[in-house]
Amino acid sequence: MQVGSGGLESKMAGGLHLLLSVHCARMDNGFADSAKLPVGATVNGFGDWSSERRSMRLLILFFSGTGNTHYVAEYLARKLEHLPIEILVRSIEQVPAGEVPEFDLLAVGFPVHAVDSPLFFQEYLRRLPPREDRGVFVFCTKGAFAGGAVRRNLQRLASRGYIPLGGGSVGMPGNDGLAFIPRNSWMARAAQNKDFDHLKSADRLACRMEEVLGGISAGRPVGDYRVQIPHSAGRSLTDRLWRAVYNRFTEPLKRRFYADERCNQCLLCTRICPAHNIRLEDGRVHFGDHCYLCLRCIHQCPQEAIQIGRWTVGKFRWRGPKGDFNPLRLYGLQRAASSPSLSVPEG
Ligand SMILES: Cc1cc2nc3c(=O)[nH]c(=O)nc-3n(C[C@H](O)[C@H](O)[C@H](O)COP(=O)(O)O)c2cc1C
Ligand code: SF4
Ligand code: SF4
Repeated sequence: MQVGSGGLESKMAGGLHLLLSVHCARMDNGFADSAKLPVGATVNGFGDWSSERRSMRLLILFFSGTGNTHYVAEYLARKLEHLPIEILVRSIEQVPAGEVPEFDLLAVGFPVHAVDSPLFFQEYLRRLPPREDRGVFVFCTKGAFAGGAVRRNLQRLASRGYIPLGGGSVGMPGNDGLAFIPRNSWMARAAQNKDFDHLKSADRLACRMEEVLGGISAGRPVGDYRVQIPHSAGRSLTDRLWRAVYNRFTEPLKRRFYADERCNQCLLCTRICPAHNIRLEDGRVHFGDHCYLCLRCIHQCPQEAIQIGRWTVGKFRWRGPKGDFNPLRLYGLQRAASSPSLSVPEG
């Protein structure tokens, strides 16, 4: 039998399909009840990549304060790079919502802030052009507990016409605690030693994305892959409580930011703050009152001069899973503090 003949191909496709179907059937998709994926989604779900296909573009749009979500966005792209599609990975700091490049499928990712996406991220989603013929995945990174964050953001996009296709939450080191722990603590070591090359939840999501991409490439309507977004009144209540408690503790922190004597006025923080909340005045760094609490400035300051009260002095700093997160280089934030980008008011 000739390699590449229809028979062998279809056997291989069948085998691959079976293998991936079994794998994907266990996928959690970030929902409480993942078994509610449409049954049809796995029938021929991986498409016939070898036949005539139109070229497709997957756009992965994300925000990342300290590198975790950026890493997962790139991780997903790497998992899918063997597919014959174009994958664009963009931070929302690079592209205004009204100017996102054309795409066939969209994936949006964010760090969980108080069991939801950050408010400026929600605002960004609201400004995305409504698309009734496009499907969307939602993913988030979390330190411990994402609650219904994925589900709520899928709902927000679905209410604007997007077809919800699934999602997931990926456990990463919690950047909300890292700047408060000693450098040589077991928590700091655990964060550094996590196996970032094998992220199971991200693998499951990539699997689901491959399934949908394959199906669409084979000519199936994206609507066939729509997921029902489960509603859980109990979880919504738990999330509201968690958010209230979390915000009560974190809101006061925004007023405790300062740069200590180690600051050499390199201006990095003024350029990388997504809220444009930091400025140099009278030879000193000043923090305004519209901080998003993304914690990027604290973790990125080369002098480790930025503190929240006394609690962060001499403590651990996080530069992303591989220690190389550099928003200035990655997102080209060579801007003056007055340039637009993410100047979306919080709240
Ligand atoms: C203000 C704030 C609130 C957070 N709230 C939560 C939360 O509710 N649940 C959780 O699991 N992690 C929470 N985290 C941790 C982050 O979601 C997590 O570390 C994430 O991976 C950070 O991603 P990034 O590096 O892309 O910003 C919070 C972090 C911050 C800064
Ligand atoms: S990044 Fe650090 S050293 Fe540079 S201006 Fe800001 S506080 Fe000062
Ligand atoms: S000032 Fe606030 S919004 Fe700006 S980088 Fe620091 S934590 Fe993020």
